[in-house]
Amino acid sequence: MDNDTNVTWHESSVSREMRERKNGHKGCVVWFTGLSGSGKSTVANTLDHRLHQAGRQSVVLDGDNVRHGLNAGPGMLNETHGDEFAKRFGLGFSATDREENIRRIGAVAEIFTQTGVIALTAFISPYRIDRDKVRNTLKEGEFIEVFVDAPIEVCEQRDPKGLYKKARAGEIKGFTGIDDPYEEPVAPELILLAAEKTPDILADEVISFLQNKGIL
Ligand code: ADX
Repeated sequence: MDNDTNVTWHESSVSREMRERKNGHKGCVVWFTGLSGSGKSTVANTLDHRLHQAGRQSVVLDGDNVRHGLNAGPGMLNETHGDEFAKRFGLGFSATDREENIRRIGAVAEIFTQTGVIALTAFISPYRIDRDKVRNTLKEGEFIEVFVDAPIEVCEQRDPKGLYKKARAGEIKGFTGIDDPYEEPVAPELILLAAEKTPDILADEVISFLQNKGIL
């Protein structure tokens, strides 16, 4: 494409190896996927805290937070950008918007990986194809898909944001697990039984995996 010819890729003068040597571990993406209320953010933040305490470089990218900033949607953008802007660039929850949400997060997570950071992402990411696209942007072993597995009944019972209740009442349309699909991973690197174990134990399981794979 014509536009592309005026954009060149710049190599960093600080190599990934230099960054990883300094950090004392490798960069990777730990991609948590699961229903709303399954515990993705809680486990990601518990893990982040543990890694930080151990002197590791990690970052959490979380659905609700990212949708306030980078991927803010209509309603959040209107005040500063106007309706037209929000319509063009704001992200909601249609399949296309979720696809773009995941694509952007994937790109950000890849940058962190390249800089030797352990990026912990906590997004429902309901579509297999969108998760696989992110996997394919990374090298073998760098994308660690973690299925945060909790039955919908448990998530709905927890309902930390009261959204399942709203979805059941028809106040939210296209809510994942209620009237929108969630495609479970076929071959995730890890499955966390999030209805049965505490966030601390689940974070331990991820840490063991990272150690076994030589990332930590
Ligand atoms: S994703 O599907 O694009 O990966 P993401 O993880 O960013 O979703 O955001 C999910 C969060 O947005 C949920 O935890 C919930 O708080 C909120 N939310 C609002 N509307 C919906 C909806 N229709 N489906 C799922 N989550 C929603």
